[in-house]
Amino acid sequence: MEIRIAITGASGFVGTNLRAFLNDERIHFTSITRRKTRRLKFEKNIVSDLGQKDLPGRLRGCAALVHLIGIGAQTKDADYQSVNVDLTKKAVSLCKKSGIKKIIYVSGLGVGNNTTFGYFLSKLKAEEEIKKSGLDYTILRASYVIGRDDPLTKNLRKQARSGSILIPGDGAYRLQPILVQDVAKVILACVTNKKLSKKTVDLVGPQTVSFARFARRFARNENVKIRKVSLQRAYFTALNRPDDAAFGLDDLNIMVGDFTGNHKRLERLCGFRLNSTGLLPL
Ligand SMILES: NC(=O)c1ccc[n+]([C@@H]2O[C@H](COP(=O)([O-])OP(=O)(O)OC[C@H]3O[C@@H](n4cnc5c(N)ncnc54)[C@H](OP(=O)(O)O)[C@@H]3O)[C@@H](O)[C@H]2O)c1
Repeated sequence: MEIRIAITGASGFVGTNLRAFLNDERIHFTSITRRKTRRLKFEKNIVSDLGQKDLPGRLRGCAALVHLIGIGAQTKDADYQSVNVDLTKKAVSLCKKSGIKKIIYVSGLGVGNNTTFGYFLSKLKAEEEIKKSGLDYTILRASYVIGRDDPLTKNLRKQARSGSILIPGDGAYRLQPILVQDVAKVILACVTNKKLSKKTVDLVGPQTVSFARFARRFARNENVKIRKVSLQRAYFTALNRPDDAAFGLDDLNIMVGDFTGNHKRLERLCGFRLNSTGLLPL
């Protein structure tokens, strides 16, 4: 199959794994990044911002754009509106100018019309920009995407190295992690499989696990202590002493939200089974 796929945010965790997967599958792709990255065999790299004048011409012929630019915490230089919403508007405009008919967007599991907090609201607005664009789309509402060096694993490993892992509240709230290799497979299916046209789908793995259980896997070494703190204390630290906080404000919002989804629907639409995350080596 001779297709070319464009990827924004290609230097991030999902982007890096997607590029490796597409390269292994011998699928041509064009990565758009802010900084230079090492080029893979089937890759064309473009260092550009999404508004650059010559970019549409350079993406002509791509079958789809996978829009992976996003942030999960705000700073004074990068807030949710300017990155998660405004750059999605630019991605939509880029598709139209370059004749790309399909956009694939990774949103968040739990995003919906009743959403109240900033990160989810920005994801919801980004979804709305895509839905009203007239482009074909697949919106993937992702739980934790895990693999080597995913942000949650890195965080828990770092805590383990410091001697203790923090569990905010009772830790009974659940996650439904999905392996990043499966995410890459799903994204490719979104490009090639019409069943995923104009759909919003949960991007979740086959198993749910409580946060406490997930975190304990990183404390196998008996010298690593599990420290439970009240949600009040965890939120207070995230708000007032963010540099000391094990989990940021929106990390907590997502974690304690206890969001789970429908992996069977994802499997049905994609036409393949997702891998068990229980086998993931730490
Ligand atoms: N990983 C998960 O578990 C998860 C779960 C739910 C949703 N998502 C969503 O999936 C997408 C990809 O996630 P990820 O884990 O790969 O995130 P990531 O590792 O943080 O990568 C984000 C990408 O966005 C780029 N980016 C950020 N701000 C930008 C800006 N102002 N201009 C241009 N590029 C910018 C980054 O570029 P630099 O490398 O130059 O910084 C990077 O390539 C994001 O939208 C995220 O919200 C991920």
